Amino acid sequence: MQQVVVTHAPDGVPAPEDFDVVEVPGAALAEGEVRVAVRTLSLDPHVRTALRLGAVPAGHAVAEVVESRCPEVEAGQHVLAETGWRSETVVPGAAVRPVTVPRGAPLSAALGVLGMPGLTAYAAHVRHLRPRSGATVVIGAATGGVGAVAGQLARVAGARVVGVVGSDEKARLATERLGYADVVRRGAGLGDALVAACPDGIDAYLHLGDQATLDAVMERLSVGARVSLCGLMDQANGSAPTRLRAGAVMRARAEVHGMVVHDHTDLAHEHAQRVGDLLAAGDLVALEDRYAGLDLAPTAFARLMSGRNTGKVLVDVS
Ligand SMILES: NC(=O)c1ccc[n+]([C@@H]2O[C@H](COP(=O)([O-])OP(=O)(O)OC[C@H]3O[C@@H](n4cnc5c(N)ncnc54)[C@H](OP(=O)(O)O)[C@@H]3O)[C@@H](O)[C@H]2O)c1
Repeated sequence: MQQVVVTHAPDGVPAPEDFDVVEVPGAALAEGEVRVAVRTLSLDPHVRTALRLGAVPAGHAVAEVVESRCPEVEAGQHVLAETGWRSETVVPGAAVRPVTVPRGAPLSAALGVLGMPGLTAYAAHVRHLRPRSGATVVIGAATGGVGAVAGQLARVAGARVVGVVGSDEKARLATERLGYADVVRRGAGLGDALVAACPDGIDAYLHLGDQATLDAVMERLSVGARVSLCGLMDQANGSAPTRLRAGAVMRARAEVHGMVVHDHTDLAHEHAQRVGDLLAAGDLVALEDRYAGLDLAPTAFARLMSGRNTGKVLVDVS
């Protein structure tokens, strides 16, 4: 089997050269365990802060059971499993779950819109942002795994949704595929662009990106605005800890929430139902950025952490 190991502790944004792909023998199967072949591996930004020299990065995957010594799990079943960046591995049978997606949806949706990123977006939408029809909602990293789902949920709720994006290609994806009413580019000129795109102020904001975007949005909040602090991409890559402007929170009498998706697992069923229905009806798009082969995982991860991904990053392993 193949696995990816960290060969160099990344300094700032990870590079493909910080990793190596190596061949290792498969492990023996003990009672209660299953051997799974990874079909599609999810790459997620939170892995960046947990990279350890010589270790295999963590990763959630859709995998196929190829051998089972667990009576509850059958060979041939597709399951969700914590496999790490591997082509094959042995895990406890009790730790895998069957994959369920609506008819017509790819199994990979269970890693994106119907998986952890989708649940994060759903929980932020219903518990933190709570957009009313006609409200102005700003979504950071608007075409990414979390942002693309949050933006579409706000649009379906009748909000006017403005996405923050890092490139022209993403600006096109945001308006043409995801239905954003408008987009602004992060970086120089963002403040003026936000004033133009949100003339009545910002009623709700999902923060997934960088410090400069957070500062610019906070200065343009409407009174009573709601903010969900969900992702700190620049901090994850080693830049200074993110700061929140207290004066801006006070002036807007804003509600600021910290998002930790694991606090919202009680919404998992509701999320799967609601987003599954929207997906099946064609009202929500699963934007995926797919790579073929485990050897491309380091390149795909470097692209994700430098903002060059276009959608939920997935690696088709076998
Ligand atoms: N709190 C939670 O429970 C929870 C759960 C899931 C994910 N998250 C966090 O949510 C964030 C988004 O996750 P995701 O999986 O959906 O990733 P993603 O949005 O698919 O990819 C990250 C995006 O962040 C944007 N970005 C903004 N500033 C950046 C910077 N300085 N460097 C690199 N990228 C930057 C880039 O988009 P643009 O170029 O378009 O700006 C990039 O494409 C991550 O920080 C993740 O850790 C949090």
